[in-house]
Amino acid sequence: MCGIVGYIGNREAYPILIKGLHRLEYRGYDSAGIALIDSESNLHVYKTKGKVANLEQYCKDKNISGTIGIAHTRWATHGEPNDVNAHPHYSQSENLALIHNGIIENYLPLRQMLEKNGFTFVSQTDTEVLVQFIEYVRSKSQCSLYEAVHQALSQVVGAYAIGVLEKGNADVLVAARKGSPLIVGVGEQEYFLGSDASPIVEYTKNVIYLGEEEIVEIKRGSSDILIKNLSNVKLKPQIQKIQMDLSEIEKGGFEHFMLKEIFEQPKSLEMCMNGRVQTEMQEIILSGIRDNIAKFRNARRILITACGTSWHAALIGKYLIEYYCKIPVEVEVASEFRYRNPVVFEDDVLIAISQSGETADTLAAIELAKANGAFIYGICNAVGSSVARLTHSGTYTHAGPEIGVASTKAFTTQVAVLTMITLLLGKELGTIDDSTYKHLVTSLSEVSKKIEKILSKADKIEQISKVFTYARNFMYLGRGYNYPVALEGALKLKEISYIHAEGYPAAEMKHGPIALVDEEMPIVVVAPKFKIYDKIVSNIEELKARKGKIIAIVTEGDTNIANIADYVIEIPSTEECLSPLLTVIPLQLLSYYIATAKGRNVDQPRNLAKSVTVE
Ligand code: M6R
Repeated sequence: MCGIVGYIGNREAYPILIKGLHRLEYRGYDSAGIALIDSESNLHVYKTKGKVANLEQYCKDKNISGTIGIAHTRWATHGEPNDVNAHPHYSQSENLALIHNGIIENYLPLRQMLEKNGFTFVSQTDTEVLVQFIEYVRSKSQCSLYEAVHQALSQVVGAYAIGVLEKGNADVLVAARKGSPLIVGVGEQEYFLGSDASPIVEYTKNVIYLGEEEIVEIKRGSSDILIKNLSNVKLKPQIQKIQMDLSEIEKGGFEHFMLKEIFEQPKSLEMCMNGRVQTEMQEIILSGIRDNIAKFRNARRILITACGTSWHAALIGKYLIEYYCKIPVEVEVASEFRYRNPVVFEDDVLIAISQSGETADTLAAIELAKANGAFIYGICNAVGSSVARLTHSGTYTHAGPEIGVASTKAFTTQVAVLTMITLLLGKELGTIDDSTYKHLVTSLSEVSKKIEKILSKADKIEQISKVFTYARNFMYLGRGYNYPVALEGALKLKEISYIHAEGYPAAEMKHGPIALVDEEMPIVVVAPKFKIYDKIVSNIEELKARKGKIIAIVTEGDTNIANIADYVIEIPSTEECLSPLLTVIPLQLLSYYIATAKGRNVDQPRNLAKSVTVE
């Protein structure tokens, strides 16, 4: 939540910062702001409520010159989204400007202390407290900006990624992180800051992933990058190459990132399986699992934790692993797991799933399980993210950057990784027979082509969506592997269209939700033809008897359900355990088309942010 950009070098900072903000806007879009130091070393802050485009408009008649600057796009935590609460925040003397992603938990006692010392505040934000506190420390100990930031952060409780500028100090940019991501881009005689690599990749592929509690000072024209941690230990900067292409973070002719990402799924799944699903040998190769097979073999149970869409993928993981590997699996949303004092054994394996790798609750759940001695395995998309660094081992999903707030290709690649893990584990543990293993490996490799087929019929789904823009409620039903898909379909619809939607196990519907069914109620039933097909057909009959409007996701050629349901959307036939990879695609498209028909901003839905780095 919140996006941070920074620049110091020989070019004009403003265009770089604005472009960077546009790329990070998916992280929050309540308000945006920019701070620049001009050639006379004056510090200017411009900020305004609303999106980055509003900021650009606002800056049109302002002095936006300067070769050093910081910028911010906000998802409000403390204080409503307005001009005053927008970042950057000035210190009292207006000598310092600071941008911040995270939450300063002890901001109240700090604020009270500062007020006693004559500081006054213009905003309700914790960020203003932090910048004032840095100024206070700086004036007390007459130290450098870097030292003041260091000393101040030593007394701060909470999470932060920050960038700080100082009037009269046009050659120095100080930044720090704890709990929120921050990357330093290292170019020729220039440096960049970004919450992720998207504002940086256009200029350099050399980056430093700032570690936990690390503070960096970058200086104009100097190749020395000073990094110390909060314990004052000097660290050697580790420069890494980012594997990201500019085309991956652009819309590429699609109207929205979400649609682009839905259509990218055949490709992202191929990237995910590349080198891992060996079709000729009919083998799965996953070094993270192979190298740690003893941990899984000896595991008392597997815990899987995640949030949102990643949690839905985790639920599918439970169906997969318990069925094929015979290891007990418990799945829990990370925010519940971390706070309920769960029993975690040293011989547990915890799998943490996260697209961004930065979700605060998921990170806290990892820390908790780690402290209890469990082996931690990460499944994440963002290379170099906190999940990747905090876990003992793991598998990247390689979905490529996901910019749309609604998760689509992240979900299918997470499910693909869980499937690969299951197959390999099952084979190693001897719980899957060889012919089933080989058959499933081959079937998995065919999924991308089948998704292409579903996508080629997107027009039909768009037509169906037009019928349902009236709806105020939706119900999604599924059974077995497709129960989590029903949950995911409901989440997709509500987050981008603002239509209320609920997902249920289909048979649960008779225990309450059926009371909601009338001729106004659209019910999406995920009903591919597998072993409990007859039961789900009965469920559809029961709903039809109450005049519900049925949109059924069925296996190709299913004339039976076609005769009962109001609308059917076909998916190619596949194995039951692989079906979520196909059935979710029409649900993503249905949500997308309903939301766009209602004029919603699907890439940046209200109140949401892509990466939930605060609790
Ligand atoms: O980055 P993560 O996978 O950890 O994010 C978890 C959720 O915040 C995320 O899946 C969210 O639910 C999506 N907006 C759903 O589309």
